[in-house]
Amino acid sequence: MSKVLIVYGSSTGNTESIAQKLRDILAEAGQEVDMRNAAEVSAPGLADGFDAVLLGCSAWGMEDLELQDDFAPLFEEMGSMNLSGKKLAAFASGDSGYEHFCGAVPAIEARGRELGAVIMTEGLKVEGDASAAPEDIQDFAGEVLKQL
Ligand SMILES: Cc1cc2nc3c(=O)[nH]c(=O)nc-3n(C[C@H](O)[C@H](O)[C@H](O)COP(=O)(O)O)c2cc1C
Repeated sequence: MSKVLIVYGSSTGNTESIAQKLRDILAEAGQEVDMRNAAEVSAPGLADGFDAVLLGCSAWGMEDLELQDDFAPLFEEMGSMNLSGKKLAAFASGDSGYEHFCGAVPAIEARGRELGAVIMTEGLKVEGDASAAPEDIQDFAGEVLKQL
């Protein structure tokens, strides 16, 4: 059994719905999962005690990428999360009508790599809420489970 931390930033509940689905799948598979809202956590030492971290965040910019309000400060301080050597994966809800569709996903992955995290699998990008892409969510969770 691995200890998995899921942290999500979500303004209208879409990324939160994906986080909940991921939590349910991973917990059903026997992993110990701790799910937290980005609004309620701070970055220093956040990854301590966990084997793997899943970070989820929506995007709200027009031309420039802007991360969801609660997650943005965490992203700024990702360097203090102690992610070096940790397994990491990213997920997001988005709208493909915008320039940076689920733009938080590549941003989190790139910053995670810089910090020495091991990216477990290609990030999950969902149009709308969790109900829009149950198979994609299942596949992503399956890839995460393989890496735990
Ligand atoms: C002003 C504005 C900017 C947005 N920018 C983006 C964007 O850059 N990329 C994207 O994928 N979606 C963008 N969206 C769509 C939201 O990210 C999308 O509705 C998402 O599902 C919200 O997820 P949340 O409820 O978890 O916050 C934008 C929406 C608005 C209203």
